[in-house]
Amino acid sequence: MRKSRIVGVGHYVPERVVTNLDLEKIMDTSDEWIRERSGIVERHWVDENTSTSDLGFEASKRAIENANLVPDDIDFIVMATLSSDYYFPGAGVLVQEKLGIREIGALDVRNQCTGFIYALSVADQFIRTGMYNRILVVGAEVQSKGLNLSTEGRDIAVLFGDGAGAVVLEGTDEQDRGILSTHLHSDGRYAKMLWDECMGSSTPKLISQDLIDERRFFAKMHGREVFKHAVIRFPQVIDTALKTNNLTRADVGLVIPHQANDRITEAVRQRLQLPKEKVYSNIRKYGNTTAASIPIAMDEALEEGLIHNGDIVILAAFGSGFTWGSAAIRW
Ligand code: UT7
Repeated sequence: MRKSRIVGVGHYVPERVVTNLDLEKIMDTSDEWIRERSGIVERHWVDENTSTSDLGFEASKRAIENANLVPDDIDFIVMATLSSDYYFPGAGVLVQEKLGIREIGALDVRNQCTGFIYALSVADQFIRTGMYNRILVVGAEVQSKGLNLSTEGRDIAVLFGDGAGAVVLEGTDEQDRGILSTHLHSDGRYAKMLWDECMGSSTPKLISQDLIDERRFFAKMHGREVFKHAVIRFPQVIDTALKTNNLTRADVGLVIPHQANDRITEAVRQRLQLPKEKVYSNIRKYGNTTAASIPIAMDEALEEGLIHNGDIVILAAFGSGFTWGSAAIRW
């Protein structure tokens, strides 16, 4: 049976580093609060002329080079982001244009923090059915332009950062490696637990002075509710990934969770009773980069020599929607 495997990985973050101390200067927060509650020390933010597809393009270029391929070798693009350059079209076609690839399909996936897992799963299905052989899967976000940088918005503003990661998936007939399974979930009853209602069709106008005056264009989050569900769903969906493949927790080489909050990652690690070195974390450097966090973390874990051929790598995410999911990979 045809399967898919990751043959190239790349990431890119904008140059500008914003530390917790920088945020202390613009809102009522503290380095201590941010570190203690989230594990974040700094994040990267774009300049005003940089958009999500610019970051996605840079990460894609690196992933394609890492796979020893050229852009024209790509058959299809799946782009995960909640912070597209425009209301429409989606950012996938913009990444395609920047890569100089003509006419191949580009699909946008809007599943927020779980976006990369959904995108990877869609790409995996296309390869398994034989429809495409090489798919570029991108997760990219510019969060900084949408943050409320006053004290009113501090619960969200201190958590999020900008960045992009990408992988090239390729078809393989090898049965003992590649993407073993993916599991995708959502529960729309919790849509308003972490959401941004503006630039949507539920308001009388997409954009209006009222919406601006009422400050309804900023994202809103019930942080504690998100936290509570995350620490249940992450372990569940990781265990599902293992069980489906007749694996145990002892078989895990590395879990790469979506980087939402180090306290969530730590709670998940404890529930799964995994040693610290088996659960990857780099949130201190980037904050939460939503759909980009898993491919960025994967690229860094590879650079750090933490993933070896044959290792079982489990990707897992939870976020707005609520959405959650996992992917089991034999590297
Ligand atoms: O991918 C999914 C994305 N989202 C998440 O993963 C978020 C999940 N939730 C969380 O990570 C946590 O709930 C937060 C980090 C957002 C907040 O931590 P918490 O321990 O749940 O704090 P809290 O919301 O209960 O707030 C505690 C206090 C409040 O003050 P009072 O009411 O106790 O006086 C907040 O106003 O902390 C205050 N606070 C802040 N203080 C300084 C909230 N944000 C900040 C801030 N700096 N940035």
